[in-house]
Amino acid sequence: MSLQTISREAIAGCFSLGAVLVAGFYLGRRKSTMSISKSHCGGQADPLMQYLLKHSLREHPVLKKLRERTMEDRWNIMMVACEQSQFMVNLAKLVKAKKVAEIGVYTGYNTLNMALSLPDDGVIVACDISEEYTGIGKPFWKEAGVEQKIDLRLQPAVKTLDDLLAAGEAETFDFIFIDADKTNYDNYYERSLQLVRKGGVIAIDNVLWGGSVLDPKDDDTISIDKLNKKLVRDTRISLSMLPVGDGLTIAIKL
Ligand SMILES: C[S@@+](CC[C@H](N)C(=O)[O-])C[C@H]1O[C@@H](n2cnc3c(N)ncnc32)[C@H](O)[C@@H]1O
Repeated sequence: MSLQTISREAIAGCFSLGAVLVAGFYLGRRKSTMSISKSHCGGQADPLMQYLLKHSLREHPVLKKLRERTMEDRWNIMMVACEQSQFMVNLAKLVKAKKVAEIGVYTGYNTLNMALSLPDDGVIVACDISEEYTGIGKPFWKEAGVEQKIDLRLQPAVKTLDDLLAAGEAETFDFIFIDADKTNYDNYYERSLQLVRKGGVIAIDNVLWGGSVLDPKDDDTISIDKLNKKLVRDTRISLSMLPVGDGLTIAIKL
């Protein structure tokens, strides 16, 4: 084989490999094999998820009761995964959180989990618009003996956050969890960034939105994707995006 033939074959080989890699990249972008799931939404059937829960989940008995009650509700897919909630509670402990806000409460599984771990003088401002959903959780908050730590505000969350800012509470929050209507995510993020202190944490749920962020079409997905694209360039924070639950971004205010 002449040197010329070898180099022609090498060049052809490089082109084919390049074509495969480019095709693979684009196909890979469309078809993710990454597994993301909440333990209560199909995930519990996975033996590895069962192992993970068995070897890490420590659920207060009343929290477990609230989870079981929430599973009877037809919108239970909205509940935060218990393993994700425990992770966020641990993060809140790491930053010695005393003042927390949750934007989107539903039946208050995560609200209760946070309240249980806050010190006696701690508070969680719980923002929701639904008396019905939060009404499911309230008796459990009381049973667990932490209802006095939960400041439930039933009105659009943007209004509650604006009220807090108007009351001079900027830079006083240690941890804020964003988990309400997706089209308001940027409004929640900007207000949360004003409300948390330096070193405080903003956790943002559903940032992978069942994988649909790969091909954003509807308003919710477009809004999540837009915020994700903004956050990666935002020099006001450091961040991690985790494949936990439906995707969780942890942003730390610099
Ligand atoms: C995904 S659920 C929250 C789940 C909750 N974080 C948990 O730990 O289980 C979303 C909640 O946001 C609430 N919500 C929707 N739009 C809202 C708004 N504009 N202001 C406040 N809450 C809103 C809904 O009523 C619902 O309870």
